Amino acid sequence: TGVFTYDPGFTSTASCESKITYIDGDEGVLLHRGYPINQLAEQSSFMEVCYLLLNGELPKQDELASFTRTISRHTMLHEQLTTFLRGFRRDAHPMAIMCGIVGALSAFYHDSTDITDVQQRMIASHRLIAKMPTIAAMAYKYSVGQPILYPDNSLSYSANFLRMTFGVPAEPYEVDPAVERAMDRIFILHADHEQNASTSTVRLAGSSGANPFACIAAGIACLWGPAHGGANEAALNMLREIGTPDRIPHYIERAKDKNDPFRLMGFGHRVYKNYDPRATVMQKTVREVFSALKVTDPVFEVALQLEEMALNDPYFIEKKLFPNVDFYSGVILSAIGFPTSMFTALFALARTVGWIAQWNEMITDPDQKIGRPRQLYTGPTQRDYVPIDRR
Ligand code: CMC
Repeated sequence: TGVFTYDPGFTSTASCESKITYIDGDEGVLLHRGYPINQLAEQSSFMEVCYLLLNGELPKQDELASFTRTISRHTMLHEQLTTFLRGFRRDAHPMAIMCGIVGALSAFYHDSTDITDVQQRMIASHRLIAKMPTIAAMAYKYSVGQPILYPDNSLSYSANFLRMTFGVPAEPYEVDPAVERAMDRIFILHADHEQNASTSTVRLAGSSGANPFACIAAGIACLWGPAHGGANEAALNMLREIGTPDRIPHYIERAKDKNDPFRLMGFGHRVYKNYDPRATVMQKTVREVFSALKVTDPVFEVALQLEEMALNDPYFIEKKLFPNVDFYSGVILSAIGFPTSMFTALFALARTVGWIAQWNEMITDPDQKIGRPRQLYTGPTQRDYVPIDRR
């Protein structure tokens, strides 16, 4: 019944109107509420970008101070959630733990599951942004068998997260300002990216009226895949597997071979047919973190040479495949000390503000309807049931 446009992967279907993020994929432009991502990454802070994405404008000084105070007030988790955490196996992937705990927030914060109340929607948004670093750090501490640290609200959002992750109760933890800045920048670079798969998942889940915690848990599940947020983990694993620059040509050939499922991870994008502007900032940040921590990592040289070789190869030129946000982020995260299993969890932490800003926009959109794609049915036509002894 009816004629539908067949559009697998939604390559040419706009699912909504949005005022939050603009991408010009041909030019490699990314704007949040009109502001270019490189200006935000270099001059702003993650708290300011959160305010911008949620409210539409950059905050004035007192607005930022009050927003930051509000987020700080919500950083703690209900104590019973630590019991929930202990039910997971020690070797659980942090993304599995995050999916579970964020979904479970609906069971602990009933007041802010009332999606008809604008005030409660804002409280749910603040709770999610504030609690995500606590949850991610908790997942990490659990995996290494160290005690969970409570948030310290005298620290910045990023410093607090670094302390909860790498600090131990026995010793004071000094956050390196360059690492704090890099962490904040990585969060800014991941904050939103319009209607990508996980954001569309959050909107689709929310379109039925589901509560915001459940919707964000759905977003985390979608982000986990290696074609999406899981690519940062996969990209660093790939760079480490390549190991030395002399092995790069072999992997380039594999990526071009249609009979080989291997792809260059951290390369290519549905929307960008030019250099991902986030990758430019990310590459610069690698150098800053290396020089602040006085470390290097041979994978960075492999990444630089792989990029150069790919960008000069007719296959990648013709298909317009460039490094994306995930290509260099793993190199930085690894230098800071995160294991690869935490990379996608950090992406989820930072993307939460984008998800929730998009969810709020959807809820208040007068054209909002339950998301209900149609299909082209290709199965059997009607036939009569055959009893089992006659099949
Ligand atoms: N290596 C080798 N070939 C590639 C790659 C790659 N990384 N990406 C795309 N191609 C080829 C692909 O084989 C196809 O060739 P053909 O037209 O001959 O069949 C062509 O380029 C178009 O690819 P597609 O898969 O149809 O494009 P898509 O828009 O559906 O996929 C993508 C986009 C990001 C999933 C894909 O480029 C990819 O798998 N990249 C590697 C994973 C990755 O880095 N993901 C992170 C994306 S950015 C952050 C995020 O979203 O979380």
